[in-house]
Amino acid sequence: MSPATDFLKDRIGGETPVAAMVLGSGLGDLTARVAVAARIPFAEIPGFPVSAVSGHAGEVVLGRLGGRSVMIVSGRAHYYESGDAAAMRPVIEAIAGLGIGRLLLTNSAGSVRADIPPGSVMIIEDHIAFSGMNPLIGEASDSRFVGMTRAYDEGLRAGLAAAATTLGEPVFGGVYMWFSGPSFETPAEIRMACILGADAVGMSTVPETILARFFGLKVVAASVITNFGAGMTGAELSHDETKEMAPKGGARLSRIVEAMLAEGAFDA
Ligand code: HPA
Repeated sequence: MSPATDFLKDRIGGETPVAAMVLGSGLGDLTARVAVAARIPFAEIPGFPVSAVSGHAGEVVLGRLGGRSVMIVSGRAHYYESGDAAAMRPVIEAIAGLGIGRLLLTNSAGSVRADIPPGSVMIIEDHIAFSGMNPLIGEASDSRFVGMTRAYDEGLRAGLAAAATTLGEPVFGGVYMWFSGPSFETPAEIRMACILGADAVGMSTVPETILARFFGLKVVAASVITNFGAGMTGAELSHDETKEMAPKGGARLSRIVEAMLAEGAFDA
């Protein structure tokens, strides 16, 4: 058992959370809806990465949401901070070690589709690891050959879509393409992403999905669209825009996730 697993097991106590959730830039709103039992800064948890990206709080929140026990990881470490695609490994490993079988990943993303505007929520159906990086490089055993045919769990995706329907919230489905960042894409790269089958582009989530599948977790992921991809409108992109726009779609995603929990979609 990893030191972080040991540490968090003590803090969680008796009831194993039904799901863990990693929240992206500007998407911390979900924690405001949680009946909080404990807040633990990353810096206190052995081996957890300390992220310095503004808009990423870097804490674990334990509590109840939608009548269920949850573990929320608010703030994440990105590949572009360190060049380490496995930066989130201690977090994902701890989630698995705690016996939490389901993981929800959220992010902010740029849309490459004119019909998916900023403010939309997109359920990730599949991904393209365009950065070429992989968090399992260097892993020694044959378990590194992780199947990715069904990386994003069909049942959990259906649960997320059903919760959105319950609330009358429109959601899109699509393919997320992972760019390393931290610079945004060029207009040519956005046109390429479109041609290659992407619906949205972003700088996170994919390494976490790969790690989660390696550790045997079921994964569901959703993007909040904060902007159209570079060149689609002529406007320059900025992190300020991401931070400003994310909470708008993020509030809708938070309600959907709460409904998803309440409807039992994460229950074993
Ligand atoms: N590109 C990459 N990552 C992003 C974007 C984008 O346009 N918007 C929010 N995160």
